[in-house]
Amino acid sequence: MSKSSLSITDNRTGKSYEIPVENGTIKAFDLRQIKVDGGDFGLMTYDPAFTNTASCKSRITYIDGDKGILNYRGYPIEELAERSNYLEVAYLIVHGELPTRAQAETWAYEVTHHTIIHENVKGLMEAFRYDAHPMGMLMSMVAALSTFYPEAKQIRDPASRRKQLVRLVAKMPTLAAFAYRHSIGMPYVYPDNDLSYCGNFLQMMFSVGGTYKVDPVLERAVDVLFILHADHEQNCSTSAMRGVGSSEVDPYSATAAAVAALYGPLHGGANEQVLRMLKEIGSKDHVAAFIKEVKTSGGEVRLMGFGHRVYKNYDPRAKIIKRMADQVFEVTGRNPLLDIALELERIALEDEYFIKRKLYPNVDFYSGLIYQAMGFPVDMFPVLFAIPRTSGWLSQWEEMLQDGDQRIARPRQVYLGSARRPFVPIESR
Ligand code: CMC
Repeated sequence: MSKSSLSITDNRTGKSYEIPVENGTIKAFDLRQIKVDGGDFGLMTYDPAFTNTASCKSRITYIDGDKGILNYRGYPIEELAERSNYLEVAYLIVHGELPTRAQAETWAYEVTHHTIIHENVKGLMEAFRYDAHPMGMLMSMVAALSTFYPEAKQIRDPASRRKQLVRLVAKMPTLAAFAYRHSIGMPYVYPDNDLSYCGNFLQMMFSVGGTYKVDPVLERAVDVLFILHADHEQNCSTSAMRGVGSSEVDPYSATAAAVAALYGPLHGGANEQVLRMLKEIGSKDHVAAFIKEVKTSGGEVRLMGFGHRVYKNYDPRAKIIKRMADQVFEVTGRNPLLDIALELERIALEDEYFIKRKLYPNVDFYSGLIYQAMGFPVDMFPVLFAIPRTSGWLSQWEEMLQDGDQRIARPRQVYLGSARRPFVPIESR
């Protein structure tokens, strides 16, 4: 009997099976041979929300949630945040290796020269109400891009895939900034090819009358935040990207689905919720009462920005953001909500409820405070998450398309509904 296998005895039949174990997993399909009799469909696993199911093999991002480790392509997030920049990290995530100087320059040139959006996209944007949420606008605009680039349907053509990837990474900041400008009734600011990826984004967001000067500290802060958000393996939005992309739809449509998944308050919408929560708490003196409410609400009131499906330790991204906050606040002035956040963290980390459930601050706990201090409205927070995550989504999509094990995503169900029965005419019901 192989040592890397699992022996299973089916007590319903007394039969034994040997299932191979590879990379710490068994293939769910190997369980199908376990049947009570010839008419039996075979054994399946039941795993709602996929808490213990690997849906793919990946070489992009590694997380050890118990130790609080996050690596992109093997490189620790701390080193990337310290020594790299977002565009270089995006290249790393997409290509698997850090770029040489020449590769980095070509990549930056390509991205910079695809930042402009078709004028008709602007027209579409005009159709939104003045108070439209920018994430809803972004989602729609990304989907709309699929109609501007019909050749994107050639998803088996590597050259076409690469072109759409560059376009998406390049255009996300433009779409994001335009959505914001629309929501405040300001004229759009077109991309400036002389600025960096993040500098250009800040300028498109905040420039009024051409006098805006990008502050290097804030530019770097956005760059670091973008590095931290670039990928996070098989989270909800990435699974949406892979799942929708597995139908072989074009990457704009799949990315729009990923943006939709990210919009939810339990995912990319969480930093927006953190800010709303901090505002509602209002003062340090109310923190203890709020924590009590969280603990006694039976899961209804959550401490937003705390807890993670994978991290059962301090989220390494939250540590980096917390350290960076001081540098940003030196330029922008201290965000008064920071004191409430620090007090929340202090009390929660000493509290039995949070200790027992291994609930620690996640990436969203402090990022919103920085973004708010920089002048971003809370509505823009999930959008700020979507921009850098685009490189992660697209590299996961690329990996999925090249993985011979993958087919259209199609989970099974456990059917518990009515048995087959004849139709009842309305007069007899
Ligand atoms: N505040 C209070 N209790 C919590 C929290 C929280 N933030 N998170 C989890 N719990 C409790 C939950 O009530 C449950 O308790 P019990 O065992 O008594 O029923 C236990 O902890 C386990 O929670 P869960 O909901 O089963 O855990 P999950 O892995 O399904 O959920 C999560 C992970 C991130 C959705 C959840 O922790 C949460 O809702 N956090 C707040 C929202 C948030 O900050 N989201 C951002 C995640 S990081 C960025 C991203 O990936 O998008």
